[in-house]
Amino acid sequence: MKLKIAVLPGDGIGPEVTEQAIKALNAIALEFNHQFSFKQADVGAIAIDKTGAPLPDVTLELCKSSDAILFGAIGDPKYDNAEGDVRPEQGLLKLRKELGLFANIRPVKAFEALLDFSPLKRHLIKGVDISIYRELTGGVYFGKKETAEDGSYASDLCEYSTSEIERISHLAFKAAMERRKKVTLIDKANVLDTSRLWRKTVTELAKSYPEVTLDFLYVDNAAMQMILNPKQFDVILTENMFGDIISDEASVIGGSIGLLPSASIGAKHALFEPIHGSYPQATGKGIANPIAAILSAAMLMEHFGLFEEAEMIKGAVEKSLKLGITTPDLGVRHERMTTSKVGDFIADFISNPSDSNHN
Ligand code: IPM
Ligand code: MN
Repeated sequence: MKLKIAVLPGDGIGPEVTEQAIKALNAIALEFNHQFSFKQADVGAIAIDKTGAPLPDVTLELCKSSDAILFGAIGDPKYDNAEGDVRPEQGLLKLRKELGLFANIRPVKAFEALLDFSPLKRHLIKGVDISIYRELTGGVYFGKKETAEDGSYASDLCEYSTSEIERISHLAFKAAMERRKKVTLIDKANVLDTSRLWRKTVTELAKSYPEVTLDFLYVDNAAMQMILNPKQFDVILTENMFGDIISDEASVIGGSIGLLPSASIGAKHALFEPIHGSYPQATGKGIANPIAAILSAAMLMEHFGLFEEAEMIKGAVEKSLKLGITTPDLGVRHERMTTSKVGDFIADFISNPSDSNHN
C-alpha cells in the first residue's frame, strides 16, 4: 500500500517520540512491501516561533493532501500566559476542527507485564480493555468564547447538536458490536442541558443496535468508577471535555500516560497521536516514553485495514515491556534505556522477531 503521511512532531518531546513511530513504520514498510512517504511540517509553539501562527497554512495544506497525519505533542510553558490564538494548543484545536476530526478514539489496556506499575491494585486492573470514544470538535472547547476587556468576566459556551452527537455515537456502537457489546455514556445529565440532549439522542440511536447494552454514568461517578472497578467498562462514549479528563485518569491503569495512543477520525481525514503532552521538562533528555507514539502508528495501520501490520507493532511493544526495555517512567528494570533505544528495539523486533538477541 502507498501512504502519504504528514508528520507534525510539534513541541517538547514530540519530535523524539514521533521519530520512533517513524522507525516502526519504516520497518513495517520494508517487511510488508509498503510505500510510506513522510513529509514534515511545524505546528504549535515551534510554528509560532517561526511564523507567528500555531497552525501555518502550509501545515494545514500538507495535512489536507496527505492520507494520514502522525502528530507528536504540543505546548510550551513560555506561552502559558499568552492570549487567544497565539497559544500553541490552538494549533491542534484548529487542525481538529478544519479537518473535521470529530471522533477521538483512545484505547486503554492493562499490559500484563506492567500490572505492578500502576498505583492501582493488580486484581482491579488485570484484564482491563476499554475503548474511549471522545467527541472532539464540539462542546465547551469550541463554543462561543468571551472575555471582558477589563478582564473581570469570561465565558465558554458548551454547545452540541443532535447530528454532532449521532455521528460519533454510531462509531462507538459499531465498535461495541465488535467488542463486548456495552456502551457507557458519560455525562452530567442531572445538571447540563447538553448532557440531556446526549442521553436522549444516544438512547434513540441505541435502538438500531439492539445487541448493545447502553448504560449511563454521571461524570463525577464515572471518575470514581474508573478507579474502583475499571473492568466494568467496554466502550465509553462521551463529550469533548469529559473525554479529555476521563482518558488522562484512565491512563493510570496502564502504568504510565506514556503508553496511551489515540486516533482522531473524521469523514475524510485521520490523525494519530499519543494522548500525552509535550512534557517540556524532559525535552532532549532521552527519557520520554515512545510507546504511545508507536502504538498510535499501529492505530494508523488499523485505520487502513493493515491489521497484521498493526499486530506486529503491538507485539514488538509487548516484547519490549516484557523484557523491561523501557524508559524510566516504567522503572529501571533493564539497563538504562533511552527513547531512541526503545524505538530501535521495537523497529528491530519488527524486522527480525525471531532474532535470538531479543531473548
Ligand atoms: C489532548 C490534549 C488537548 C486537549 C490539548 C493539548 C488542547 O490535552 O489531546 O487530550 O485538551 O484536547
Ligand atoms: Mn488531554
